[in-house]
Amino acid sequence: MKIISCIEELRDHLRGQLRTAFVPTMGNLHDGHLSLMRLARKHGDPVVASIFVNRLQFGPNEDFDKYPRTFQADVEKLEKEGVYILFAPTEKDLYPEPQEFRVQPPNDLGNTLEGEFRPGFFSGVTTIVLKLFSCVQPSVAVFGKKDYQQLMIVRNMSKQFALPTEIIAAETFRAEDGLALSSRNMYLSSEERAEAPALFQSLNAVANEVRSGHLDIFELERQAMADLGKRGWKPDYISIRKRANLQPPSAGDMAQGEKLVVLAAAKLGATRLIDNLEI
Ligand code: PAF
Repeated sequence: MKIISCIEELRDHLRGQLRTAFVPTMGNLHDGHLSLMRLARKHGDPVVASIFVNRLQFGPNEDFDKYPRTFQADVEKLEKEGVYILFAPTEKDLYPEPQEFRVQPPNDLGNTLEGEFRPGFFSGVTTIVLKLFSCVQPSVAVFGKKDYQQLMIVRNMSKQFALPTEIIAAETFRAEDGLALSSRNMYLSSEERAEAPALFQSLNAVANEVRSGHLDIFELERQAMADLGKRGWKPDYISIRKRANLQPPSAGDMAQGEKLVVLAAAKLGATRLIDNLEI
């Protein structure tokens, strides 16, 4: 595997490649990331991964400085997955001057759910993803469904800017007890780790209620948040949305069997976890 930090050198290596498959990451790789690499390999060749902890998507009180950086271990894992190039730019490589141009996702998609609780997050994500796409010029890029809203926003961005990059969705990789794998799980104490699967259980409970015909979504959301609250969680949201555009379903949508997804974000101690489940 070649490890490249310079944009020009990356382009030299990839010139003429027509089926590059790309997996952008912020490092601290776990089995979930590795499943994205395997999916990328099915959809293209060569596989390029990136590791870059993107300052633009962290809020002032978020964990940019303490975000886990485990470069050497990450390199070993990617080598085993047959990744051809690891693009690992420094901040200077990607932002030789301050990044003043920004991608601005539309309000209805970018300022709801995660966007409501992490202002500017999706502008930071889409700006770096567009820039990484410009560096790698992939024909496909793989994003996990764990970050459901991110996946949808990146997909819409690629479509609206007519980028030549097809966005592929990878299923969420879960531990045996149901907890979605995430780099932030390593912040959990052992008691918190034992409690953490309750988030996915709560999503399953909501999904089962909807499937069995419970149509009062506000009551379901309220109940699920209250139940998690009683267990010591601080939920930001548990929200049933339309898969098509992540907007709340109307009564008519519910009656017509609109395809739904339930999304959640909640703090357990100091760690904020997110998860979702298609209904
Ligand atoms: O999902 C992530 O790890 C990040 O948001 C991404 C897509 C690598 C952009 O920094």
